[in-house]
Amino acid sequence: MQIINTVTELRTALKSHPSIAFVPTMGNLHAGHIHLVALAKQKAECVVVSIFINPLQFGANEDLASYPRTLAADCEKLKAAGASIVFTPNLAEIYPDFDGIHLNQTMSIALPPIANELCGASRPGHFSGVATVVLKLFNMVFLNGAQQQLVVFGQKDFQQLFIIKQLVTQFNLPIQIMAGETVREASGLAMSSRNGYLTAQQREQASQLNCVLQDIVNNIKNGLNDFDALEHQATSTLTAQGWMVDYMTVRSALSLSPANSHDRHLVVLGAAKLGNTRLIDNIEFLR
Ligand code: PAF
Repeated sequence: MQIINTVTELRTALKSHPSIAFVPTMGNLHAGHIHLVALAKQKAECVVVSIFINPLQFGANEDLASYPRTLAADCEKLKAAGASIVFTPNLAEIYPDFDGIHLNQTMSIALPPIANELCGASRPGHFSGVATVVLKLFNMVFLNGAQQQLVVFGQKDFQQLFIIKQLVTQFNLPIQIMAGETVREASGLAMSSRNGYLTAQQREQASQLNCVLQDIVNNIKNGLNDFDALEHQATSTLTAQGWMVDYMTVRSALSLSPANSHDRHLVVLGAAKLGNTRLIDNIEFLR
């Protein structure tokens, strides 16, 4: 496994590979990420994993400074998982106009209104930061004209995955996007780097988020159609358990617009804070 820090070295290393699968990450890797690497390995002979904590997708009061940085342990895990290349660029590599303080990323992609809903409503600019860095990373990894160009994203960030799929379609990128299922703890808690912020007691409680989403799914599958009532009930349950709910919502899995009674392919999404830790989860299902 090669560890590469610059775009020039990356492009040289990738020149001769006919099939590349790419897994973008911010590091602090857990079993969910390793599952994405395993999927990537099934599809391509060269698997590239990037580790880059992207300041552009963090708000001013968010956890950029404290986001866990565990590069040595991450590289060990990736070696064991069979990754070919780990790309760990510094800020100046990703943001060429970086002056040591400001990223100076003055160009941006105009995103559709969905980027300002759900997580985008409480994290203004987040998806613009994600889309910008993802497009940059695609340009860095995929400029060798490999026959097969695949990117694997986790389904836990359903809205992110949705926006990236639109980015690829609307910018005519010759890249296939593959979704990796959310990997969960035995309790049902979705694996996330941010789970590391939870105290032991909060960690025990954290599966409540998945439980209320699962309750909504069960109720809908049992014929309930009043999505507003189900969302309110889930919000009240979590609030009574000490959570600060950001959103609980039933959406069309195809358009991410609020679900109506004709939609069959649905996704129920939730975001809530336990103490200072904001967790997200979702369940996609057919009814
Ligand atoms: O999902 C993540 O870890 C990040 O949003 C991503 C896609 C690596 C972009 O920084």
